[in-house]
Amino acid sequence: MSTTRAEATGHAKARRRDRLVYLRSHPLLFGLLAATRGRGVRRLGGTLLVHDADAYREALTRLPLDRAAAGTTGGAARAALRGAGDVLFDQEGAGHRADRRSLARRLGAEGIAELRPVWRPLLERGCAPLAGGGEVDVVALAREAAGTVAGALLGSEAEPVALAEAAARAAAASVRGHLPGPPRPGAAAAAVREAERLRTLLGGGDALSSMVAVAAVNTTVAAVPRAVAWCADAGLWGQAADAELRPRLAEELLRVTAASPVLPRVAAAAGSVGGCPVRGGDRLVLVARHAAGAHRRDPDARDPAGPGAARLVFGAGPHACPGARLAAVLLGDVLEELAPYRPVVTRARVDRRAALPGWRSLTVRAGA
Ligand code: HEM
Repeated sequence: MSTTRAEATGHAKARRRDRLVYLRSHPLLFGLLAATRGRGVRRLGGTLLVHDADAYREALTRLPLDRAAAGTTGGAARAALRGAGDVLFDQEGAGHRADRRSLARRLGAEGIAELRPVWRPLLERGCAPLAGGGEVDVVALAREAAGTVAGALLGSEAEPVALAEAAARAAAASVRGHLPGPPRPGAAAAAVREAERLRTLLGGGDALSSMVAVAAVNTTVAAVPRAVAWCADAGLWGQAADAELRPRLAEELLRVTAASPVLPRVAAAAGSVGGCPVRGGDRLVLVARHAAGAHRRDPDARDPAGPGAARLVFGAGPHACPGARLAAVLLGDVLEELAPYRPVVTRARVDRRAALPGWRSLTVRAGA
């Protein structure tokens, strides 16, 4: 489907704003990834940068991965939550399958139908100021929704915003402890401390509960405001208001914003990715953002990239994100609530300390 000039201008504006979340938080990493994306897989010493969709899928589904290695998502979580149990990301085989089954019902269609009545009134209340000409901070709204959803999923009585903030601090401390470069004194201890605070807030549950809270909150708080900003800047409220197009728009916005843009992994054994030989112990930087075509194809519910591409922002294979459906339904509900006001962004501030690129605040008001 062809794009009009006004639509192209809107997307260019949306892209310009969205790029700031990368440039202001991790400029070197994202500069490097942008500079190297011309080749599907590129080796830099002991690290492979994987941009191509097939190679990305191959790395996550065919290559044996060391899921507990330092510097990977599983390794970082395990180090922070030491001794408290397994955290899915670091698991393999039957134990992993059993723990996923325990989450599957809560994150499947039935579980989401139970959770929706919990978040719908919250979204309605949160967006109400727009009707009177007021402003809404979409980050604050996403934080409250994410904390509420995580609490309901885990059966926790913790105050939702406190829970969301604790999950954000735990993730940020864990990422700081595992960034490449010179060692940061105290970073590992801070990661353990923040993980312990989160666990205490959750009533001292197992490590898996903390991990689910971290995974659910940080992605939602990063994704929802970025998606709303894109929708506003690109003038997509017409698609958001259309009940048929809305689910595809949510999927498209999750694709282009790729909330978890880079998956750090380590090869457990030799193999190959995208035709490039891999040695055991090699680091893999799997660029979900590029695999999903976020950098080159604008979101359009009338002509979507399709579930094959969109799904890649949620990983692939046995560890693929179990919260993907929940994220899409929640974003769809946020878009539905906002669409009648056709909001515009009035102020946006990048969160430089968050684990995932995103906004610290994103204020909208009703548009003309
Ligand atoms: C925009 C929202 C989200 C994005 C982009 C996202 C992305 C991801 C990615 C890339 C992975 C790693 C997959 C892999 O290694 O193949 C993952 C795993 C995971 N996600 Fe999400 N996620 C989102 C929302 C959620 C939500 C809302 C929840 C929970 C309610 C959740 C729970 C998890 C869990 C528990 C895992 C670990 C699965 C395993 O290792 O078996 N995620 N997610």
